Amino acid sequence: MSSTETHPAARTVASTQSAMTELILPNDTNTLGNLLGGRLMHFIDLTGAMAAYRHSRTHVVTAAMDHIDFINPANIGDLLILKSSVNRAFSTSMEVGVTAWAENTLTGKMQHVASAYLVFVAIDQNGRPLRVPALLPETADEKRRYADALLRRQHREAENARRKARLAAATPDDASNLNS
Ligand SMILES: CC(C)(COP(=O)(O)OP(=O)(O)OC[C@H]1O[C@@H](n2cnc3c(N)ncnc32)[C@H](O)[C@@H]1OP(=O)(O)O)[C@@H](O)C(=O)NCCC(=O)NCCS
Repeated sequence: MSSTETHPAARTVASTQSAMTELILPNDTNTLGNLLGGRLMHFIDLTGAMAAYRHSRTHVVTAAMDHIDFINPANIGDLLILKSSVNRAFSTSMEVGVTAWAENTLTGKMQHVASAYLVFVAIDQNGRPLRVPALLPETADEKRRYADALLRRQHREAENARRKARLAAATPDDASNLNS
């Protein structure tokens, strides 16, 4: 990041809020008619990226899908409803929270399908990280998510350092280098 770059103005969480709805079709499901986990992660990634675009107004890449809870299955014929917003902006990265719900089209019943945290990094045309605006949490929930995002970042950094140290010590014959 260039040291001469000025810091863009801060943005609110509300200005990053994004959503998408998908009808779950046979190609999205397993042999039991349940939404495939990988397909769900794809939709989560897309919805998360929308919030990151709205915050940074530049190109973004997914740096990490930090945590995902698969809570209930979504089924063929359901409407998958995904919502996202930026929880916290750091220097060039943003933590985004995404929730996914399934709406039964016949009964209207809603079920919580999954929640995930992702980290997106703003980049320029050459893939170099770019500074992002600060995030202004306004509501009590936004402030809680903002504080929690810092704890998750600290946990992520400690885990990454531990993994790097372990990989550096691994030998080619060491099965542990496949899964640290
Ligand atoms: C993400 C990426 C741009 C980071 O580049 P880098 O040269 O490591 O950049 P830096 O070390 O300066 O880190 C830049 C930011 O990314 C964050 N970051 C880097 N790796 C990360 C990881 N594994 N998890 C979470 N954040 C990460 C850093 O914390 C830093 O955030 P900050 O500026 O807010 O403090 C680069 O690793 C990349 O392009 N990865 C591939 C992304 C991709 O292809 N995604 C899938 C398709 S979109």
